[in-house]
Amino acid sequence: MKINLSYILSAILAVALVAALFSFFEISGEKARLRNELMNRSSLIAGELGSMPIIDSGLFNVASQVRFSDSLSNRYNIIGFALYHDNHFVPYSHSVEPYLEYSADYAYQSIIADSSFGVYFKTGGRNIYQYVMPCQKEAIAKNALVLYSDASYISKIVRRISVENFFRLFIQILLVVVLIGLLIRWGVYRQINTIVNWVRDIRDGSLEKLREQSPAGFLEPLQREVTNIAFAMQEARAVAEEEARLRTEGEAIWTPDRLREEIRKVLPDKTLVVVSNREPYMHVHSGKEIKCIVPASGMVTAVEPILKACGGLWIASGTGDADKETVDKQNKLAVPPNEESYILKRVWISKEEENHFYYGFSNEGIWPLCHIAHNRPVFRKKDWDFYKRVNGKFAKAVLEEIKGEEQPFVLVQDYHFALLPELIKKERPDATIAIFWHIPWPNPESFSICPWQSEILLGMLGSDLVGFHTPYFCYNFLETVNNTIDSRVIRENLSVRIKDRTTLVRPFPISISFTMKDYEKKDGKIPPASDLLAKYGIKASLMGIGVERIDYTKGIIERFLATERFFEKYPEYQGRFTFVQIGAPSRTRIKSYSDIVEAVESEASRINLKFKLKDWKPILLLAYHHSHDEIMPFYKSANLCMVTSLHDGMNLVAKEFVAARNNNDGVLILSRFTGASHELTGAIIVNPYNTEQMADAIKTAIEMPRKEQQPRMKQMRQSILEHNIYSWAANLIKTMVYLQR
Ligand code: F6P
Repeated sequence: MKINLSYILSAILAVALVAALFSFFEISGEKARLRNELMNRSSLIAGELGSMPIIDSGLFNVASQVRFSDSLSNRYNIIGFALYHDNHFVPYSHSVEPYLEYSADYAYQSIIADSSFGVYFKTGGRNIYQYVMPCQKEAIAKNALVLYSDASYISKIVRRISVENFFRLFIQILLVVVLIGLLIRWGVYRQINTIVNWVRDIRDGSLEKLREQSPAGFLEPLQREVTNIAFAMQEARAVAEEEARLRTEGEAIWTPDRLREEIRKVLPDKTLVVVSNREPYMHVHSGKEIKCIVPASGMVTAVEPILKACGGLWIASGTGDADKETVDKQNKLAVPPNEESYILKRVWISKEEENHFYYGFSNEGIWPLCHIAHNRPVFRKKDWDFYKRVNGKFAKAVLEEIKGEEQPFVLVQDYHFALLPELIKKERPDATIAIFWHIPWPNPESFSICPWQSEILLGMLGSDLVGFHTPYFCYNFLETVNNTIDSRVIRENLSVRIKDRTTLVRPFPISISFTMKDYEKKDGKIPPASDLLAKYGIKASLMGIGVERIDYTKGIIERFLATERFFEKYPEYQGRFTFVQIGAPSRTRIKSYSDIVEAVESEASRINLKFKLKDWKPILLLAYHHSHDEIMPFYKSANLCMVTSLHDGMNLVAKEFVAARNNNDGVLILSRFTGASHELTGAIIVNPYNTEQMADAIKTAIEMPRKEQQPRMKQMRQSILEHNIYSWAANLIKTMVYLQR
C-alpha cells in the first residue's frame, strides 16, 4: 500500500480547514467578549461622567478636561467625550473633535429614544467605539453624552489570537493526523499485510508456511478462521483436482460405447466373428426347468463384454445338457438372455470328440505343456487326431458364417483352436485372423516335447496376429518358432515371415469390464465379514477369499499350506480369521483334476481338524459353481484375497477383486507367476512355493493399516481402469485393421 502525495495534500488541507473552523469560532467568541466588555465599561464610565459637576455646569474647563482625559485614556483607551446640547456638541477634549460629525444623528436618536447604545465606525485608520447616553439634567435638558473609545485594540487582539490559534490548532491536529497515520501504518497496515501474506500462502498452497506464521495479536481469531478456511479449501482443491484428472482420464478411458463407435468406424458393415470352445451362456436342466448359467472362465469374463457392446457372432461348443433345446434351426440364439445384443452359434461335438479334443489333447496335452506347474503333459495320437478333427469342424462352421462377407474379421480364442487360423486362411485368404492365447507360452525347450509342435505353430501362424498376455510369452513363442519351423523370425518388430506371409506377435494384457462409472461407484457401508461367515456357522471377524476353478495350476493346496503355517506361527489369529475358498470343480473327467479336487478337500479337512474350535474353522471350502452375483459379497467383505497360481497367463480373479473394492481398501496377495503381477504392483507379491513367505504375507495383509491399503488399492484400480477390456479389444482390433489385406 503506497501513501502518495495527493493523500498527504488532502490530509493537510483537511487539517487546515478544521483548524481554521475552530479558530474562527473561538475568535468570534473572543471578539464578542471584548466588544461586550467595551460596551459595559463605556456605559459605566458614561454613567459616572453623567453625574459629574462639569457636566452639570455645562462649562468647558481646560484644566479639568486635561486631567480627566489623561486618567481615562490611560486606563481604558478612552479618547474623550462630548456633550450634545441644543443640537451642537460641546467637546470635553480636543481629541474627540474629528469624531463629532459621526455622532450627531446617534445623539439625537438617543435623546428621542431615551436609551443608550454603542456604535463602531472607522476613521483615520482607527476603529472608534462611540457610546451614546441620554442625560437629563435639570439645568441642561435634552442632553446626550457621547463617549469615544479607541477599539483598534480589539482587532489587534483578534488578529493575534487568530494567528496563534490557527497555528496551535494546525499543529495539534497535524500531530493527531500523524499519530493516526502511524497507528494505521504500524497497527492496521501491518496487520493487513499479515492477512495479505496469509492469503498469498493460501493461494500458493503453502499451508505449512501459513501454520508457521506467528500469532497475529488481536487478529488471532481471524487467523484461526482463515487457517481453517485454507485447509478446507485445500481439501476442496484436492478433490477438484482429482475430479478434473479423472475427467480428463475419463475421456481417454475406453467404454463400451467408445468401443462400439470405434468398431463401427474401422469395421463398417462387418460382423465381428469370435470363436472359442467355451460358450458364454450354457443352458442346463435343473429339475423341470432350464437354467442359463455363465461358466467359470476368464476368457468368458473378458470377451463377453466386448460382444455385448459391439454385437457380432460368437461360435462355441454347445456343452450344456439343455443347449440344443434353446437354439433355432441354425443352432443360434440371441444372448445375453433378456438383453439380446449378439448371436451365439453353438457347434455340437460328440462325447468322443469332447473326450479326445477337449479333455485329451487340449487339457491333458497343451494345458500342462504351457503351464509350468510340474504336471506331466500326455500326448496321445488319438487325441491329436480328434483335435485336428474338431478344429476342422469349427473351421467349417466359421467358413459357413463368413461366406457372404468380404474381408471378414475372425478372432480365435485360446489353445483349443491352434489349427483354426490356418484352416480358415487356406479357404479365405482375404480374412483377417487373430488368435489370442489365454494361457502362458513356455520356453522353447518345454514346448519342444510336444510331438506336433510344428503343426501347432504353423496352424497358429495362419493368422495375421498372434496375441499373448505378456511380452515374455511373445518372446518365448518367437524363439519356439525360430527353433522349430522354417521361417524368418524378425525380433525387432516381433513378427514371423513364412514364404510371402507375415504374422505379427504382440502382447495384449487382457482385462475386465471396468469403466469410470464402476470406478466412481460408492459402496456405502459393506456388511462385515463376520455376517457372511455367520451364515456358514463360523464366528470370526477377519476373512480371506480365494476364487477359482479347482485346477492344479491355481496353487490352492499351496495357499492352504500357507494358511496352516500362518495359524502355527501366529496362533493369536486362531478363532479370528477364516479363509474362504470358492472353487468350481472343473475338467473332473481328467484324473489330475479329480485328484486335485480330492486333494483340496482333504487338505481343507485336515487343516480344519487341526485347528477347529467350537464355532470356528480356519478354512471354509465352497466347492461348487458360484455366479458372479454370489461371489461379489465375498470380494467386498474380505480383508484379503489370495491369488497364488503356480503359473497363470493373466488371472482375472485378481482384477475382479480389485474392481470390487470401491472403498479402496482390502489387500491382494498375488503370485509372481501370474501375468497380473506385472500390472498390479500394489499387491503383496509372493512365490506360492514359499510357504513361510505366504504365511507372513497373510499376517501383513491382515495387519496392514487402512492408510497403506488405500494407495495400493487405488494404484491397482487405476491401472485396471486405464487398461480395461474395452481398451484391450480396441488395441487388438485396431492392430487387425492395420494388418487387413
Ligand atoms: O485360462 C485358460 C482358459 O481357457 C480360460 O480362458 C478359461 O477361463 C479357462 O481356461 C476355462 O477352462 P474351461 O473352458 O476348460 O473350463
